Amino acid sequence: VASDVVLFGGTGDLVMRKLVPALFHLHSLSLLDPGCRIIAVAREPFDDEAYRRLVADKARSFLHEGHDESAWAAFLARLEYVGCDVRDVASFNGLRERLKPGGSRLFYLSTTPALFSPICRNLSASGLILEDSRVIVEKPLGHDLASSQAINDEIGACFREDQIFRIDHYLGKEPVQNLLALRFGNSLFEPLWRREWVSDVQITVAETIGVGSRGEFYNSTGAMRDMIQNHILQLLCIVAMEPPASISPDAVRDEKLKVLRALRPIVEERIATHTVRGQYRAGAVEGQVVPGYLEEAGIPAGSRTETYVAIKAEIDSWRWAGVPFYLRTGKRMQDKLAEIVVNFRQMPHSIFGSGALGHFANRLVIQMQPNETVLLHMMAKQPGEVMRLEPVKLDLDFREAFRTQRLEAYARLLMDALRGNLTLFVRRDEQEAAWRWVEPVMNAWAESEELPRSYNAGTWGPAAASALLVRDGLGWHEEIAR
Ligand code: BG6
Repeated sequence: VASDVVLFGGTGDLVMRKLVPALFHLHSLSLLDPGCRIIAVAREPFDDEAYRRLVADKARSFLHEGHDESAWAAFLARLEYVGCDVRDVASFNGLRERLKPGGSRLFYLSTTPALFSPICRNLSASGLILEDSRVIVEKPLGHDLASSQAINDEIGACFREDQIFRIDHYLGKEPVQNLLALRFGNSLFEPLWRREWVSDVQITVAETIGVGSRGEFYNSTGAMRDMIQNHILQLLCIVAMEPPASISPDAVRDEKLKVLRALRPIVEERIATHTVRGQYRAGAVEGQVVPGYLEEAGIPAGSRTETYVAIKAEIDSWRWAGVPFYLRTGKRMQDKLAEIVVNFRQMPHSIFGSGALGHFANRLVIQMQPNETVLLHMMAKQPGEVMRLEPVKLDLDFREAFRTQRLEAYARLLMDALRGNLTLFVRRDEQEAAWRWVEPVMNAWAESEELPRSYNAGTWGPAAASALLVRDGLGWHEEIAR
């Protein structure tokens, strides 16, 4: 697709860590049309050469494994740079001169959201938004419902909804799309994918990293806005949605929206029984001593920002009534682990005697990190002269099963945006429904006298998060024998 790609925030972290590596990967697979230009925009007064040197230095360690040096050199030569003060409309003349007149354009807003409105307004006032132009916007889109509506209004005043690509990179991850394949490309699971057969669902995104150099940003955000409002709720939608009629953008997004709207509000006394927020203190992660959140750079003394959240979510629908969805995410946890666990109900009767199966129930684990696998926990007979049953795992490792080139999430989603495919992007109403659900919890926390619960870095989070499940007679996946 011969579209010009314009990267606002072109000297920023996301561009260096994710977007340049993604575009380079597409370039090296010849998926990026030779006519497609990549134009970075930022305030600094660089020329093309100085910008290329910056990228060569900053993005290098993030490139895909085994990349080809000559391809990298050719890619760098494709990069262009335009200095621009995005609050000043006159400053957009430079960009206009660089863009192909009348050509397709993809604008990527990788700046602070405070600049989204001025960028859109000035692009529009400069006549740079054409019929087929598209814009990709990064999270966080606002810090609550009202601010997200205001930003959506501003963007929507300049772009039509079908030109707006709200990116959630979790939707670009292979295992997440594989969940769609698992659910809707097989007849096996769908009949069981409901309250009659599923006891509970657990969605975990645990990270070992702390807030690193993002202290200031993170402190005004917290885990609820950073991870639950977007990535984790999107995963929940993919697990819980009804089969869409097709994979077309609105068919899929309509179904996700229905799930978000059916989430039971967490208000009043349910805040205490359904949510846990935590903050890490010093500890050891992967054998390294690490500081607590309050000792990290850029964190004000006494900060109450949560670095961990666990929630018991409930979906008021015919399919899911009574099935808890436990969601959790945290920084500085014991392992880097991202997975969706679907626990099935226990058997109604054991023909092998009462103790033979213990508390065993089938469990399907869709793992995104550290491995890309689908595991089905099931019972099998141990070889030998007696009938003794043992839990075993059917293990589908996607890296083993498919040895073809993989695309990282950002590369996949950039490609979709270049092709105009909105299926894996978030629609405005979905995003606002997600805010509507998390907002009362955030407000209650903000008003509460209680501090977030401390947990030692390098653990699975506050003990209260285990209690959330124990109360229901359940346990987190890693607490139950694997
Ligand atoms: C980002 C969050 O959206 O996702 C980060 O802002 C988080 O705080 C990151 O670390 C996690 O993404 P991934 O792909 O590394 O699991």
